[in-house]
Parts: sequence; C-alpha cells; structure tokens
Amino acid sequence: MTTPIGRLLVVGLGLIGGSLALGLKQRGGCRTVVGFDINPAEMDEGLHRGVIDEKAEELFQAVYDADVVVLAVPVKVMEGVLADIRNAIRPETILTDVGSAKGNVVEAARRVFGEVPANFVPGHPIAGSEKSGVSSAKATLYEHHKVILTPLSETDRFALKRITQMWESVGAEVHHMNVQRHDEVLAATSHLPHLLAFSLVDTLANDHENRDIFRYAAGGFRDFTRIAASDPMMWHDIFLANSEATLKVLKEFSKGVDQLRTAIEQRDGQHLLGVFTRAKSARDHFSKILTGTAYSLPMTDKNITFKVKPGGTVSGEVRVAGDKSMSHRSIMLGALAEGVTEVEGFLEGEDSLATLQAFRDMGVVIEGPYKGRVTIHGVGMHGLKQPPGPLYVGNSGTAMRLFAGLLAGQSFNSELTGDESLSKRPMERVAVPLRSMGAQIETGEGGCPPIRIRGGATLKAIDYKMPMASAQVKSCVLLAGLYAQGETRVTEPAPTRDHTERMLSGFGYEVSREGAVARLTGGGKMTATHIDVPADISSSAFFMVAAAITPGSDILLKHVGINPTRIGVINILQAMGADIVLQNEREAGGEPVADLRVRYAPLKGINIPEDQVPLAIDEFPSLFVAAACADGVTTLTGAEELRVKESDRIQAMVDGLKVLGVDIEGTPDGAIIKGGQISGGRVDSLGDHRIAMSFAIAGLRANGEIQIDDCANVATSFPNFVDLVRSVGLDIEVKG
Ligand code: S3P
Repeated sequence: MTTPIGRLLVVGLGLIGGSLALGLKQRGGCRTVVGFDINPAEMDEGLHRGVIDEKAEELFQAVYDADVVVLAVPVKVMEGVLADIRNAIRPETILTDVGSAKGNVVEAARRVFGEVPANFVPGHPIAGSEKSGVSSAKATLYEHHKVILTPLSETDRFALKRITQMWESVGAEVHHMNVQRHDEVLAATSHLPHLLAFSLVDTLANDHENRDIFRYAAGGFRDFTRIAASDPMMWHDIFLANSEATLKVLKEFSKGVDQLRTAIEQRDGQHLLGVFTRAKSARDHFSKILTGTAYSLPMTDKNITFKVKPGGTVSGEVRVAGDKSMSHRSIMLGALAEGVTEVEGFLEGEDSLATLQAFRDMGVVIEGPYKGRVTIHGVGMHGLKQPPGPLYVGNSGTAMRLFAGLLAGQSFNSELTGDESLSKRPMERVAVPLRSMGAQIETGEGGCPPIRIRGGATLKAIDYKMPMASAQVKSCVLLAGLYAQGETRVTEPAPTRDHTERMLSGFGYEVSREGAVARLTGGGKMTATHIDVPADISSSAFFMVAAAITPGSDILLKHVGINPTRIGVINILQAMGADIVLQNEREAGGEPVADLRVRYAPLKGINIPEDQVPLAIDEFPSLFVAAACADGVTTLTGAEELRVKESDRIQAMVDGLKVLGVDIEGTPDGAIIKGGQISGGRVDSLGDHRIAMSFAIAGLRANGEIQIDDCANVATSFPNFVDLVRSVGLDIEVKG
C-alpha cells in the first residue's frame, strides 16, 4: 500500500487535470484535492461536481500549502505559471506537469529556476479526448492508459517514485523515457495525426461544395477526422512547443504523400499496392500488439495454459491448417519469381506470417492473407531490397535457415533474429556450408542466432555432403545455389522432405534428383505459378493419434499432404496396429494429397525403424503419446535431432509423461516407452507448440485432468487447434 498524498493542488481544471483529481479522490490516492483555474466558473463547476474538495482562492498560497502540485495548464502558459509560483515551492513540495511536449517545459523550468529543480518530475499522460473542460472529467480516464514520465538525471528519486505511484493509483501504466525521445515519439503518433485531421477538415470545409461533402461523409471521414474537434488553442500551443520533432516527421510524411501523388499520376498501381498492403499489415499488427497477440511479441509474454478433462471419443471431419513448410516456401519462391503467384491454403500461423512480413520488409508486395489466399507480386531473383532493420522470423528454424541461404546471395547486408526458443538453436549447420560457398556470414554466441550476412559476396557452387538428415540445411544450400556460379549438389544421409525441390520445379527452376543427391545450377530464373498448399500432415498427426488411441473414434482428415518424405507418422502408426486408410488420393500443385480415415484399433509397442525417423521428425511428440497408450514397449533410436528442435523434445516428452505416470526412459538419441495408464497432472510444454498439442490429446486416455503450461506458441503452427480439437470431441479449456 502506498501512503496517499496529503494535499494535492491541480492547477488547470480541464479534462486532464479534472480527471486526475476525480480519479485520486475516488480511489483514495489523496486526502484533499485542491483545484485552481484561471476561470473561477471552472472551479465552481469542479466543486459542484465533486471533482475537487476545495478551490484555491489564491495560487501562491495554495502552492505553498500543497504536498504535490500538478500543472495541467496549456504548455504555452507553463513558463508564466512556473514564474508565478516559483517562490511558493518549498523544498519538499513535489511538482509535476502533464504537457504534451516535454522539451520546451523542461527548458521553461530551466529558465525560471536557473536549473531544473530536483523535485520537478515532467510527465505526460497519453489519454484525453476531443472533449475539454472540467465537466468532461472522468475518474476512469487513465485506467489502462500510459503515462510517460521524463525524469532528468538530476530528478529526485523519491519525487519520481511519488509521481509514479500517483498515476498508478488512478490505474495508469507508467513508463519512463528521455525528453527528446518522448517528443519524437509523440510528434509521430499524436501530433502529426492531429495536424492532418485539422488540415483535411479545413480543406474540405473551404470547398464551396462543402455541404455535399459533409452530408455524404461516411465512416472513413468520421474515423479519420474525429480528432479535428480537439481544442484548437491547446493544439496551437503543442505545435509551437514541439515544432522541431513535428517538422521532422512531417517532412517524412510529405515525402510519402508526394510519392503517392506521382504514383497516381503515373498510374503506378504497384507502388500504391505496395504502400497499402504494407500499411494494412502494419495496422493489423498494431491492433494485435494492443490485444497482445502479435506474432512479433515474445511468446513468453503470454501465459496460456490448456486444461484437458479426461476421456471422450474423437469423431467428425476436419481439414487442418495449411502445411507450414510449404507455406514458408511459397512466399520465398513466389517473391523471387517473375510475375504474380497465387497461393491457396496458406497457413496463417505466426511463423509463416513472420516470413510474409519479412518479404514485405524487403520490398515485396504481398496481398493477403485472406482466408488462406495470398497474392505475391514477385520481384525476380535480384529484386529484393535491403530491409530497414533485422528480419524477425519468430519461432521458426525453417525460416531462419532458408532465409540464410537466400540472403547469402543478395547484394545487401542483412540480419536474422528470432524469439527466445529460436535464439538457442544451432545455426552453424547452415553457416558452415554457406561459408564454403563464399558467403560472409556470422552467427551469434555458441553458433546461435542472430545471423548476420554481408551482402555482395560472389557465391560458388559446392558439392555438400550433409552431416545430418536435415531438409532445412539442404534447402538452405540449394537456395544459395540459385545465386552461385556452377552446379550445387547436396547429398543427404537419409531422405528428408523435398518441398523445396518440388516447389522450385513448380516455379520452372530445374532441379534434378537422383537418389540421395539434389542438384541445381545457379543463375536461372523462376516464373510465377499457382500453389495449393495441402493440410499439414504434422498438424493432422495430433488427430491421427487422438483417434488411434481412443476407443470408439472415427475421424476423416481432409486434403492432407502425403508427400512420401513426410509420411513416417502414418507408417509408424500403422506398424503399431493403427487403422488408417488413405482415400481419394490425388495431386495438388505438385504434391500428393489424400483424405485420411482413422478409426480406433488397439496399438502395440514397436521398435521404430530408423529410416522412418527423418520422415516423421516433427511427429514424435504425438507418437510418444501413442506409444504410452500401446500395449508393450516402443523403442525410438537415431532421433538425436529431436534434441535441437523448438525444445529438447526427447526431454520434454520424457519429463511430461513421467509426471503423467508413464514408464518412460530417455536415451541420447531416443526413448524407451512402456505403454500403460496415463494419469492426470501438470506438465510444461516448454513453449514448444507440438509438445503442448501432444499432451492435450493425451487427455483422451488419461484418468485425471491434464494441465499444460506455456502453450501460447501453438499459434505458430496451428492457430485454430483448440477450436478444431474441441469440435471433434476433446474437452479442452484455455486459460490466460
Ligand atoms: C522443416 C524441416 C525439419 C522440420 C521442420 C520443418 C522444413 O527440420 O523439423 O519443422 O520445412 O524444411 P530439419 O530439416 O532441421 O530436420
């Protein structure tokens, strides 16, 4: 509990000062609130409305008697007020203000006092509305709003703490920032939009047809110009006070408008579309930040827990979200192709959206995604532009490693970053072959992200024998090979997913494959195409296992990608006795697809053949659950790669299944799992999407509730998992 302020004086009883007074009074943040306003009627109104307890008859005396003084007067008169009260401020009085521009208030204080007093805490609540006056005061105005305090090095720590507490006690979120930064940020986010709104309304109002214009003005006009009804004098003051930062951002803005004008004159639709799609995605992204769901937020900030009630059966028909591997690649290759590529079935998960954004950052115009449809305006092999900053690829190892290959061949420098989990994953596995091609590439500490790539290197083809079975490494080298002189060859120790090779062919780039070797020659080009992304077999796997372990289940999974390099999960489950039937097998956009019907059948433990491991590499977390429900022992070997996925998946599953009473032992390259009864308990997904989803389906065979912590990352690969899994019969609740 913080001690309430004794006597608080609010100088200037407008919306801002009045709302603070009222909020403090109602929440007991202050014993007595005194109000002063140059207009006596405002003080009477404040008293009458209960906004203040007392009105100050005389400013000097009121300041002298106060413990905290809040200056809520227009920025223009701040200096005059400071001069008037200068000698009334006792050493223990704390002084703060609410001005929208901070640099000039601090300068005013310096002029009046000789130096900025230590007990002066400059501040700015980011709240308010187009309304003004004490009659609009609202006790809740600051709830969940930000207040920026801009302390100087000489500001007293106690005074800063007191003012921080004052704002927190009316529900605000307090941030500290330096004065100059504050003024720049506010010029961009508040002052410029107000200027534009005033200017637009004024321009239209001056039009002699203005009656019609205003009569037919609809939502867009109203949304854009609401703030033009703000207090003119206050904004007059703000622009004069924060002129430097405002002019800087206005210049940038004018440049953008000039470019749009030229684009309209020259009928340059590409430019218009580029600006609009980037702006739309930035605006959507902004809304997501505000609701806490942006893909670029560190996922660990979000605390999502699944609670699964035991039992149930699984039935129905579902089409799970689009394949993640193909979604990433569709954007990458579509961007580098010549012409317009249409993608259907694109996975709108956080990882593939991050890839899409990264290409927008490199100047590619991408429309959508809209219900899985994306339109990519390819820029050709050499059309990417230097991004304005590091490219953020979220949780995705695939994106980071494939980007590394692509970026190694560009003329510009680049940097790749990711979330906390990705920042711990090994990147030297791609840096090593890329260096031998001549790329200039650096990884961070311990060979982990960030990856920094120097542009302009001349790449030469290599003949690379991969030390591990990794489609990501293979794809990275092949993508760099597009830019290399000569024929790049990659040999894999075991077959891995071949979406890159297939999709390159689909874009008309010749790739030859013979046994374990994939080859291509650099310097070619790609032509836009149409891509139909099938449902992700990795996401379907949770439903396959769910039906396979639960008596009475019968489910149809539609349009699932059954590329032979991905069907390890089907082969392994069938070897365990699962009843999986492939129906309606067909081809869609160069990839085989089928509907999968899965019905319950008792499972038995097996030794998982090592040749199936790379073909089921992402499905082991759910296969561990299947093994835990099977009769007998299942042994997995040759799967050490699982230890460097989004989490150490062997450890994560061993630890979690042990908590759930399963007899399981981890080995360096796999695990030994003895089937039996799964009990309830609380497990940690370690922020790994597939671990979270696997424990969720374990609930079907558990005899108690399973709570799974840290599940936010499910959105990286399977944003509608909870809805879908519920629709087929799982009793799952989401907390957080
Ligand atoms: C992927 C390859 C696999 C897989 C990952 C997606 C790809 O990784 O685990 O989820 O799209 O190329 P490795 O190639 O490193 O095994």
